[in-house]
Amino acid sequence: MIEYERFLSQSALKSQGSAIRKMGVMAIRPDMISFAPGYPDPVTFAWAEFREIANELLAGGQGSVLQYGPTRGHKPFIEALVELLASRGITATADQVLITTGSQQGLDLAGRVLLDPGDVVLVELPAYTGAISAFRNTEARLAGVRQAPDGIDLDDLRAVVARERAAGHRVRFLYLVPNFQNPTGLLLSREKRRLLLEWAERDDLLIVEDDPYGALYFEDTATGEDTRPIKADDTEGRVIYLSSFSKTLAPGFRVAWITAPEPLIAKLEVLKQTEDLLTPSLDQHIVYEAYRRGILTERLPMLRKFYQDKRTTMQRTLREELGDLVAWPEPKGGFFLWVSLPVRFATDEMLPRAIEERVIYVAGSAFFVDGSGRNTMRLSFSLPSHDRIVEGVRRLAKVVKAEIAGHPAPVEI
Ligand SMILES: Cc1ncc(COP(=O)(O)O)c(C=O)c1O
Repeated sequence: MIEYERFLSQSALKSQGSAIRKMGVMAIRPDMISFAPGYPDPVTFAWAEFREIANELLAGGQGSVLQYGPTRGHKPFIEALVELLASRGITATADQVLITTGSQQGLDLAGRVLLDPGDVVLVELPAYTGAISAFRNTEARLAGVRQAPDGIDLDDLRAVVARERAAGHRVRFLYLVPNFQNPTGLLLSREKRRLLLEWAERDDLLIVEDDPYGALYFEDTATGEDTRPIKADDTEGRVIYLSSFSKTLAPGFRVAWITAPEPLIAKLEVLKQTEDLLTPSLDQHIVYEAYRRGILTERLPMLRKFYQDKRTTMQRTLREELGDLVAWPEPKGGFFLWVSLPVRFATDEMLPRAIEERVIYVAGSAFFVDGSGRNTMRLSFSLPSHDRIVEGVRRLAKVVKAEIAGHPAPVEI
């Protein structure tokens, strides 16, 4: 047997698989109810329309459908994205857009273009694990910034930057998900979006704004205006904006994009060339056609209602089963419910018991770069059916109640 470890690079030795992806494997057991991965529900996919578009594209009239193409992406598709961005309030030109193989690639590219080993990236406490891993790959330092109910805590942000700079570290950018954040579901207030831009200008920093969920607001509590990207008001070119079709059309297409000032797009493009030359041509064409034919736009109201109803079912069942033993901020959009237990509990330690009861979640600590948040968990309501949400929450409640019975609150003296 060859010991392969001695052949591995330092970065391969340090790299770790995503906790959430591992959970995805467990969720394959049919008797397991999984609240772990943030997958869209396949019943929402436009199967018939995709079939029709793919049939037309594969009839063979147009070579570009299966050909290599420009790294930046299929030209007409980029033009369409400029129009889509305008509908979100963002003014961009075609040379400020790069199509990526999922936003995950965009995050990886942004990390590689902007970070040297030892540089500081500011991330929220908690933050999306895929971004944490991508930035860690560059050997950057990840500095956590606390959150408030209306999004990132600006006082803490200033304090963390001051602390890092005082320690002689170079702070590069703030990464954040302003709309229905993964994992908390929080929506950043409009006021804070404005203040963040001022902060970035004053402190001469960049913002990487990741927005896969903005279109999925729940009409009972939010409007399209609440999700206006920070990028929309970025007059200096401080914001690198990422968005994706994964949650609204289908993640299997792996089609997303970055919008940034042209000099940055040019660098991102060069690095993308070494990763995959281009985002798959067939995927780009199908998504472009789906957009061009209005399939995405016409389905959005249905999607908003679909996930809003699932959120409501999960919230209602949690309240019925656990009352005020647990707490969570009500998500106004997106896929996630972020549940806190009393601080003395550790959801990572509780996970084996949940698995015995055939329910899984993501332990919150996976999202904290400072090792905190052990009493939290992310429950994703997007994929399971209403019945399975109810049954899964009942199973989870059994585990939580047993945990609480086994660890009575310390007596105050
Ligand atoms: C905040 C956030 N960013 C990026 C991604 C990656 O999305 P994509 O499928 O476009 O790679 C996800 C996926 O869950 C996400 O939640």
